[in-house]
Amino acid sequence: MLPRYAIYYPIHFIGIFLTFMCIGAMCIYCRNGGKKEDNPSRKFLAITHGVSLLFIMVGGMGLMKATGASADGFPGWIMLKLGIWLIVGMSSMIIYKKPNLSTIWFIIFSLLGILAGLTAKFKSFDGYLNYFN
Ligand code: HEM
Repeated sequence: MLPRYAIYYPIHFIGIFLTFMCIGAMCIYCRNGGKKEDNPSRKFLAITHGVSLLFIMVGGMGLMKATGASADGFPGWIMLKLGIWLIVGMSSMIIYKKPNLSTIWFIIFSLLGILAGLTAKFKSFDGYLNYFN
């Protein structure tokens, strides 16, 4: 049987890439002057974004179990990732509400994704600084 990690890691990543593709697509649509209600891909983006967020969560929870990260509750780095997941989950609302800030949203959401990835890898800022020592 495949180890749990090998199953949940790709699920986590499918979710991550699809989610951020949707965010990019919404940002560029709004940056080009598009309005939410006129977006021909609105439904497609909404469904894909929603389903892929679910993939991130299912994959993340599975990875927690696989790595033993959930052994004593939710560690700080997971709480941070949950917070980022929540903000990323509200991205369509945020982008469509302030479409004139699309360029900024584009960069901010990319940075949030990078932060979530770094958090998983290094667990803490100390872990990051000490990694190469
Ligand atoms: C937008 C949100 C998220 C992004 C962009 C993200 C990104 C990543 C990335 C890039 C990795 C691979 C790190 C590596 O292998 O070095 C990872 C691993 C992981 N993520 Fe996420 N993640 C997100 C949300 C979550 C959530 C909500 C949870 C928990 C429910 C979670 C739990 C985990 C766990 C447990 C790992 C495995 C860490 C390890 O191998 O030690 N992630 N994530």
